[in-house]
Parts: sequence; C-alpha cells; structure tokens
Amino acid sequence: MTASDLDPEPTEPTVCAASGKSLPCSIEELQTLFLFEKLDRDQLQWLCERGHVELIEPGPLYAEGAPATCFYVLLEGNTVMSRRVGGDDIEVGRTSERGVYSGAFTAYLGDRVPQVYNNSVRVTVPSRFFVLDAEVFAEMMHSWFPMAVHLLEGLFFGNKNAQAAIGQRERLLALGSLSAGLTHELNNPAAAAVRATATLRERVAGMRHKLGMIAGGKWDRTTLETLIKLQEEVAEKVPKSRALVLSPLEASDREDAITDWLDDHGITDGWNLSPTFVAAGLDVAWLDHVEATVDADTLEPSVRWLNYTVETELLMNEIEDSTTRISTLVGAAKQYSQLDRAPYQVVDVHELLDSTLLMLAGKMPPGIHVAKDYDPSVPPIPAYAGELNQVWTNLIDNAVSAMGESGVLTVRTGMDRDKVFIEFGDTGPGVPPEIRNRIFEPFFTTKPVGEGTGLGLDISFRIVVNKHHGELSLESEPGDTRFRVWLPLTPQDDGAALTPDGLDAVTAAARTSAGTAASQAAETAGVAASAKDKENS
Ligand SMILES: Nc1ncnc2c1ncn2[C@@H]1O[C@H](COP(=O)(O)OP(=O)(O)OP(=O)(O)O)[C@@H](O)[C@H]1O
Ligand SMILES: [Mg+2]
Repeated sequence: MTASDLDPEPTEPTVCAASGKSLPCSIEELQTLFLFEKLDRDQLQWLCERGHVELIEPGPLYAEGAPATCFYVLLEGNTVMSRRVGGDDIEVGRTSERGVYSGAFTAYLGDRVPQVYNNSVRVTVPSRFFVLDAEVFAEMMHSWFPMAVHLLEGLFFGNKNAQAAIGQRERLLALGSLSAGLTHELNNPAAAAVRATATLRERVAGMRHKLGMIAGGKWDRTTLETLIKLQEEVAEKVPKSRALVLSPLEASDREDAITDWLDDHGITDGWNLSPTFVAAGLDVAWLDHVEATVDADTLEPSVRWLNYTVETELLMNEIEDSTTRISTLVGAAKQYSQLDRAPYQVVDVHELLDSTLLMLAGKMPPGIHVAKDYDPSVPPIPAYAGELNQVWTNLIDNAVSAMGESGVLTVRTGMDRDKVFIEFGDTGPGVPPEIRNRIFEPFFTTKPVGEGTGLGLDISFRIVVNKHHGELSLESEPGDTRFRVWLPLTPQDDGAALTPDGLDAVTAAARTSAGTAASQAAETAGVAASAKDKENS
C-alpha cells in the first residue's frame, strides 16, 4: 500500500484547527521520527500534504474532554500531560522525546468510542508539532495498515472487557466485606441470646428451689391460689412493658421508690429486686396491690417469687428479640443476595430496598439518618432482583460516602405513567457540574486510590439501562443530590434484556459519557512505548 492508493487530492483539514504558527513540513524531518521511519517518501509526502507543522507557544495544546480532532507528533520542545482527578490536574507524563505522539490517536476506532481527548497537554517551551486531522489519521491507518488496525481494535476492546471483568471481581470482593459486616451484625444478637439463656437457666433453678420451700412451708391453699393469680397478672404485664421507654433518670427514680417501699416492708436487699420490677413497668402502686392481696407473713416470699417470674419473662423477651433479629438478618441476607431464587422474577421493590438497607445498616455512620418515603401504590415489577440490590447498594454507598459522618439519606419510590422510580437523595456536597457527564464512565472516581474503583455507577448503569431497559438520572446541587432509577412495569422481552450479564463493551462505550480507561492507559503507554522504541532504535 502506498500513498498513491489514497485520494490524490489533499483535503484541507477542517476540524483540526491550527492553534499555533504554521511552519513548513519537511519529509526529511518526518523520516527521522521513529513513528514514521518505515514510511516511504511518497507516504511522507502524503503526510506533509495533508498535515502541517505548527509552532505552539508555552501554554495549553488541548484540554481533556474536548472533541479529539488532532493527532500530534512532537518534533521539538517539551510537553506535559495531565489528567483531571476530582478537582485537580494530576501530571501523568512529561517529555521532550522527539516522535512522542498524543491527541486523537484512537481516531481509527471511529464512533465506537467517544472521540474526546482523554488527557490535557500543555507545552512548557515553544514546541513544534507535526499535526494531522483526526479523520485523515483514521483514513491513513485504515488504508495503510488494515491488519494493524484489526489487531489494535482487538487489543483495545479486549482490554476493556478484561478490565470490566476484573471490576466485577473487585465488586465481589466488596460483597465479601459486606458479608463480614453481616457476620458482625449477627454476632451481637447471638451473643445476647446465649447470655440470656444462661441467666434464664439460673433463674429457673432458683425458682425450683423456691417452689420446694413454698411446698414445705405453711402456705395454705388460698394463699397459693392468690399468688398464682398474681403471677399470671404480672406475666401478662411483662410483654406490654416492651413499649415502655424510660429515661435513665426516670428509671433510677422508680428504682429508688421501689427500694424504699421494699425496705419499709422489711424486705432486705430490695435494691437487688427493684431494677427487674422497673424494667417490667411495675411500680409502687402495683406493690401496694400485692400487699393488699396476700397475707402479711407471706408478703416477702411472694414478692421474691413474683420477682423471679418477672425476671424469667424479661429474659424470654430478650431471647425472643435476639433470635428474631437473627432471623430478620438472615432473611435480609437471603433477600439481598437472592440466593435460591430465580434471577428474573416479579419482585416487590420495597422488600428489596428494605433488605439492602438492613444489610448496609452496619456500614452506616450513626450521624446518617435514613428516611423512607415509599409509595404504597408501586406494584411488583419484573426484574433481576439480585442485580437491582447491587444498584441500590452502589447508590446508597455513594450517597453515604458523599455525606461523610452526618446527613439524611432519603429513599423514595413512586410511579410515573408506565414506570416505577426509586430515588436516592442525599444531603452531601453534590456532584460538581464539570464531572457530571463523566461519573458513569467505568473507572471514573474522585475517591483516593484504594477507596473507590469507579465502577459503582458504571455497573448500575448497565444493570438499569442495558438489562432492565430503564433509566438512571441525576439531579444535583449542594445539599440535595438525587439519583433516580426508572424501571418499566412490564417485561421488555428483547434479547438484550435477557443477556446473562448485560456486559456489552460496544454499548457501554457508545453511551454519551463512556470513558475508556484502557485508552487512557494506552495513551499514557503511547508516550512510554514511544520513548522505549526510541531507545531501541
Ligand atoms: N451521591 C453523590 N454525591 C456526590 N458525588 C457522587 C455521588 N455519587 C457519585 N458521585 C461521584 O461519582 C463518582 C463515581 O461514582 P462510582 O460509584 O462510579 O465510583 P466510586 O464511588 O468512586 O467508586 P466505587 O463505587 O467503585 O467504590 C464518585 O467518585 C463521586 O465523585
Ligand atoms: Mg460508588
């Protein structure tokens, strides 16, 4: 393939506007660059005719995110490459290596990837570049090196898929830490149940002993019947006491009153008995009632017997609460992971949201308040439940980390014509406008290295949009950020809705903001590789 195989008429680059002073292009000079060293004179001539040489004064050459219209090759000077991470520009490379290229170097991939500059470049001294229009560069690559283009495409998309797969794996590891959190959550009620059971065993032994004493004593039948009646009354009162919440001050006042009453009635170590009575919501009035019901000489053993009854009831309440908590957590974990359930089924989004919130409760800082605003008219919808839980997890995780230690997380649901929406609102600082169209890119993160993979929103987008044919929208201002998931009410049964994992590199790359971590890596590598090339040559 030679230069003459291409369109003989040089086309004036219209998109890649010159930003510096135009200078003559010399094929001898181009030939000295490692990038062009294997080209023949015709080809170099072709390049000089379609491209141009430019002198750029110190300052910016192009900016990250702008349409990638020019392919630049450094002839002389010094360039600094940087990438925007969060609000800062991070320098990723600095070189004066002749032949180093940058800019629209993925133009040959066409519209399968967004053609925008993936970094910013500025020059620090007056620098000369050979500049080629992106379209001309793409045309040249396809005509002169068709096989290389296939190989590069394979490398590019292959890399991207591999990165996505690695990302999934990283998410799984994150799930592992979630299950560690769950284990921790389970530990508290389990330990409480074990403790309460041991105490209950002691108390029941005490009661057996007391029963022996009562049977051997001088209790007549009526007194026993009265005691049994009182015991029934008190056992009934105890479950109701669960709704009773006393402040520490109120509780200690009541304990003092009961201790005094017991002292006054000749019952020693009353301080030992009073907390149990208070916990069960019993008071001096109730003790007066006991006194009025039993004979004076059986008052003390009766009170002690009733205290045992109250305590065992309280312990059984505690065991019931702990074990209920355990089974709620296990239920939530099952609902959350959707283990042993069909992946695609009709689901109640509120159940999914509740199980996710419960699973994340352990990771939620105490200063964050969760407000639920569910619309009860939201009907069950067909969905991949386990994956939707992933979406909620990612959005809640982002909201919580945006808010830091305190704020309000609002989970709202509702209906809008043929769609259900689920909104996650937070009171954090918001998503700055300049990164709003980048946050859905894979690997885009503003979190420090090691804290975020930048895949949360990318994965959520794929699950919602590619897999459920829903939408994911964002409204954000400081103090009020809302991510909204829209899901259709009816199954969208085309092939894409039922792909096993919703992964589709091309679709992902084609969406508005899809970024290309691989291309960024490759672009930085472009500089490195070219420098290395130079060494070898
Ligand atoms: N609720 C939010 N408030 C402010 N910024 C947000 C919010 N949600 C997302 N972002 C921004 O979007 C970026 C990308 O989010 P994404 O969930 O994709 O990745 P990440 O949270 O950084 O990392 P990962 O989710 O993999 O741990 C975040 O780094 C953050 O800058
Ligand atoms: Mg995230």
